[in-house]
Amino acid sequence: MTAGRTRIGIIGAGPAGLMLAHLLHQNGIESVVVEARSREYVENRIRAGILEYEVAELMRSTGLGARMDSVGSRHDGTNFLVNGQLHHIDFHELTGKHVMLYSQHEVVRDLIASLLEAGVEILFEATEVAVHDFATDKPYVTYVRGGAAGRLDCEIIAGCDGFHGTCRQSFPAGLIVEYDREYPFGWLGILAEAPPSKDELIYANHKNGFALLSMRSPTISRLYLQSAPDEPLENWPDDRIWEELAVRLAHDGFSLNTGKIFQKGVTAMRSYVAEPMQTGRLLLAGDAAHIVPPTGAKGLNSAIADVAIMARAIEAFCLRHDAEPLNHYTETCLRRIWQIERFSWWMTSMMHKFDNHGPFDARMQTAELDYILNSSAGQVTLAENYVGLPLH
Ligand code: APR
Ligand code: PHB
Repeated sequence: MTAGRTRIGIIGAGPAGLMLAHLLHQNGIESVVVEARSREYVENRIRAGILEYEVAELMRSTGLGARMDSVGSRHDGTNFLVNGQLHHIDFHELTGKHVMLYSQHEVVRDLIASLLEAGVEILFEATEVAVHDFATDKPYVTYVRGGAAGRLDCEIIAGCDGFHGTCRQSFPAGLIVEYDREYPFGWLGILAEAPPSKDELIYANHKNGFALLSMRSPTISRLYLQSAPDEPLENWPDDRIWEELAVRLAHDGFSLNTGKIFQKGVTAMRSYVAEPMQTGRLLLAGDAAHIVPPTGAKGLNSAIADVAIMARAIEAFCLRHDAEPLNHYTETCLRRIWQIERFSWWMTSMMHKFDNHGPFDARMQTAELDYILNSSAGQVTLAENYVGLPLH
């Protein structure tokens, strides 16, 4: 048995767990991260790529801005394509803010490099991870690593182990209330060796279904098509994907750059919130507590917002013996989380084709888009939520 002790035991090395370890380290609070997968796996997991204004600022103010500012790109606005008409939403003009396009796996790489350099321990490839005694002030984590059993004693356990992790499932039976919505569609996403066909994103509402044009670099495009939630990839040979993208993204003066597709996958879409996010000394953050559909690019951002709140609460507790912010962690997070759930649900409802919609629902969707895109109040609403609400 390997036995260790730290102040904060963090389960999961996704953006939530890694950023929490980073923020705690900045304030001199020791933590250890316990992760089920390998470093290579977590550093190459393909996810979304938009950082809200304040999340990018947090990266910069905590010493993680250099690669983001050189490899990532600043987006001052975005585009909505409805009925073949392109509407530009100018975030900068509407809110004074912008977003950064920088892949989630790059954020993960930056965090891991910085933590390891600072000497923060990340226990990759830990199996049979379990959390214990969090109803007391002496919680601990057990795991198996390289065939040997390990135990980590700590003061607080942070459950940052994603939607399928063990921490939420370890809450006392009956404590959690779940709020859940599954959507009757998914996104088929590709990465392709093709220069982006537009300098900013295009969210397209088309009668065949939603499409999104995004990018990763001057040579790599990221594109999505609304599909069935369990769409078999065999239905979508590369030629069919390009043809359908060209149809859904078509508008005056636009031509779609195509190229070799080197990654293809389907993601189902759901909205989910678990309440409360804490029990005793076990606190959840990120996907472990809530999921959003990807339409507003909020998954990573909401995970970072949780751990920014959690880090402050832990600092108050560990450095000033003030348990108040920790005791209110759930309610502080949930207020912001429900705003993000509402925005992601709303964007999803507004932009997708719903097969169960009757003619009235379809007209409501059109009227909503008409208002949002053509009124200045509507545009501000969209822009303010997209660039991100304040982190606290
Ligand atoms: N023990 C240890 N680690 C675990 C366990 C476990 N039992 N179960 C899961 N994990 C790890 C996963 O391997 C993963 O690396 O926890 C990590 C959780 O990371 P994410 O799923 O990335 O979740 P989070 O950090 O909350 O980030 C949210 O990720 O899913 C996207 O769209 C979402 O962008 C958002 C972001
Ligand atoms: C992405 O680039 O992967 C992306 C961008 C915006 C979204 C979702 C995904 O809303």
